[in-house]
Amino acid sequence: MSTPMSRLKFFFMLMKSQWFAKIPVPTSSFAGQTVIVTGSNTGLGKEAARHVVRLGAARVILAVRTESKGQAAAEDILTTTKANKNIIEVWPLDMSDFDSIKAFAERAQGLDRLDAVLENAGINSMNWTKVHGEEQILRINLLGTVLLGLLLLPKLRESAKKYNSTGRLSFVGSDLQYVAPMLEAKVPGSLLDAMNDEKSAKHQMNRYPNSKLLLQYATREIAARSPLTPDSNVLVNNMTPGVCKSDLVRDKIPLIVQAIMAVVLGVLARTTEVGGRTLTDAVRPDLGKETHGEFLMDCKVFPAGPNVETATGKELAKRCNAEIFARLEHISPGVTKVLA
Ligand SMILES: NC(=O)c1ccc[n+]([C@@H]2O[C@H](COP(=O)([O-])OP(=O)(O)OC[C@H]3O[C@@H](n4cnc5c(N)ncnc54)[C@H](OP(=O)(O)O)[C@@H]3O)[C@@H](O)[C@H]2O)c1
Repeated sequence: MSTPMSRLKFFFMLMKSQWFAKIPVPTSSFAGQTVIVTGSNTGLGKEAARHVVRLGAARVILAVRTESKGQAAAEDILTTTKANKNIIEVWPLDMSDFDSIKAFAERAQGLDRLDAVLENAGINSMNWTKVHGEEQILRINLLGTVLLGLLLLPKLRESAKKYNSTGRLSFVGSDLQYVAPMLEAKVPGSLLDAMNDEKSAKHQMNRYPNSKLLLQYATREIAARSPLTPDSNVLVNNMTPGVCKSDLVRDKIPLIVQAIMAVVLGVLARTTEVGGRTLTDAVRPDLGKETHGEFLMDCKVFPAGPNVETATGKELAKRCNAEIFARLEHISPGVTKVLA
């Protein structure tokens, strides 16, 4: 069972964050560093990549599923930052396709260094859809995302050691993890099977928050089993940008719903640029050790909430992680060996 935060408490917490939190413009230098940002052709990923380029990174890899969109984003970033065009590279990556993820990670092994990875690519949809035989939100936001993180972790470790620096691996989660109901936990047997069962489509609203809660669980597991040592100086965190304007909602929705959403977002949402600051902060070179394994909100370590911190939350995390990591081991044999 999950133990979501009450919706009222969540509402007040979110309002406080959206209206009163100050999100500073990132200033830490990325000089000399190589950074990968997934899903960086638009939205928060693109704005984070723009900050990282502005802050002097030597190489920024836009990992995107449509290369032409990636090239357009690269040109836009170069125009606004006046950076040297050799700094930005566009690499293909489809987070719904495990072969594409493996090929991307293999290519990344050839980098001379890798300092930070922002795992930003993600989707939300009210439509039940399968890709490669699996429900798409679960596949992209959770399984593909965690798989890529595990495959890139050794390279991050190697670079941190070689350059006497601290690597950073950040998973972009969501504050909706606080209220994720994980109804599938009530179904006996496999959680992933239950989430892949079309019967769960009647709770499609829950799917995105659930995917981000499971990503939160997996992040904590990776951090706990990748403690900071001289051989593994890589900070791992899960973060939320808060509610931001972006292209995240792409479903065809009735005009009236669009109008309501526009009003709500107008009152509540951060600009995409401000959201991009929070992503950049989660991988800044001077990020502190206290962030390892933690949830970041408003650029600070934040309590992860009852879904994570209560005894029932911890029990559910154990059950979910056992399945998630076994599944990843099946997809890519040996991949979990990077964890203690
Ligand atoms: N906006 C918010 O209020 C908010 C709040 C909390 C968390 N987040 C999280 O922030 C992250 C970025 O979202 P956003 O708001 O910036 O949305 P967005 O504008 O829709 O950007 C999402 C990015 O992910 C990419 N992507 C989606 N599926 C992919 C796949 N299979 N392979 C590779 N790339 C894929 C998209 O590429 P295409 O353009 O090619 O589809 C796009 O570049 C997501 O993880 C989201 O869950 C957003």
